[in-house]
Amino acid sequence: MLKGRSLVEPKDFSIEELDGLFQLAEKIEKDEKYLRDSCRGKLLATLFFEPSTRTRLSFEAAMLRLGGSCLGFAEPGSSSAVKGESLADTIRMASSYADAIVMRNPKEGAALLASRYSNVPVINAGDGGHHHPTQTLTDLLTIRQLLGKIDSLTIGFCGDLKFGRTVHSLSKTLAHYNKIKMLFISPLELNLPEYIKKYLKKLNCEFEEKENLEESMPELDVLYMTRVQRERFFNEDDYIRLKDTYVLDSDKIACGKEKLIVLHPLPRVNEISVEIDSDPRAAYFKQAKYGMYVRMALLASILGVEAD
Ligand code: CP
Repeated sequence: MLKGRSLVEPKDFSIEELDGLFQLAEKIEKDEKYLRDSCRGKLLATLFFEPSTRTRLSFEAAMLRLGGSCLGFAEPGSSSAVKGESLADTIRMASSYADAIVMRNPKEGAALLASRYSNVPVINAGDGGHHHPTQTLTDLLTIRQLLGKIDSLTIGFCGDLKFGRTVHSLSKTLAHYNKIKMLFISPLELNLPEYIKKYLKKLNCEFEEKENLEESMPELDVLYMTRVQRERFFNEDDYIRLKDTYVLDSDKIACGKEKLIVLHPLPRVNEISVEIDSDPRAAYFKQAKYGMYVRMALLASILGVEAD
């Protein structure tokens, strides 16, 4: 049962609980009337201290489709954070007005802190370069829908693996599935953080670190492209030097399997050429839509209104 639970880190939900969420999201995707109005009278607070298109809009669309309502802010400049109010006090207030809180914040650990001061479930919509667990729900639902399974797959992560919080959350979660191999393709400076590698090793998960995308392509069932995270760099020159290290184009995708799927949490900058959008292997826009269905399933579950 997920009723009343927060989602701060991927490990907060078991594989069995994730499976239940995916089944619920699949029912909603097949029948958009399923669970409609089940959240009537419930309020969702969306507190975004950093920019967002997909996460905020898909959460708000999810809550509205469930018949609930939303309140909140899309940037901290319109909240009393600019007057110096602490995160703890902001959360105390939001949790006295709403039935659940979705929060994005630039500081690693902010969602954990929020969950400690909240009387209602807190969903982490991204905390700095740390985690983004509802993007992981989106990614796994997409893989399950398009490939029919999450086990026995080779998944390549390419780009900014140091700051890419979606990579951190997804790789840690995939490590709990069976026969998963992960290839981490990045320049040395943007390698996966040691704490994630340590986690994968502890679970005996097979992984390799690479620098060359073309060489890795033929092996992959899933290619997960990522943007170089300009906002997390200390030095603009480093960003400019690294930003176009990998660009997926027609020549590179030609080395991939026919049944490969290309995912990207989005937003995309230059790392996937627009010519790839019409390739049947490009799944990133479908992925963004699955994000809304899985967030509907999540909200219905933590608010305790799911039908089963
Ligand atoms: N994938 C994702 O988090 O997108 P936004 O930054 O637009 O929410």
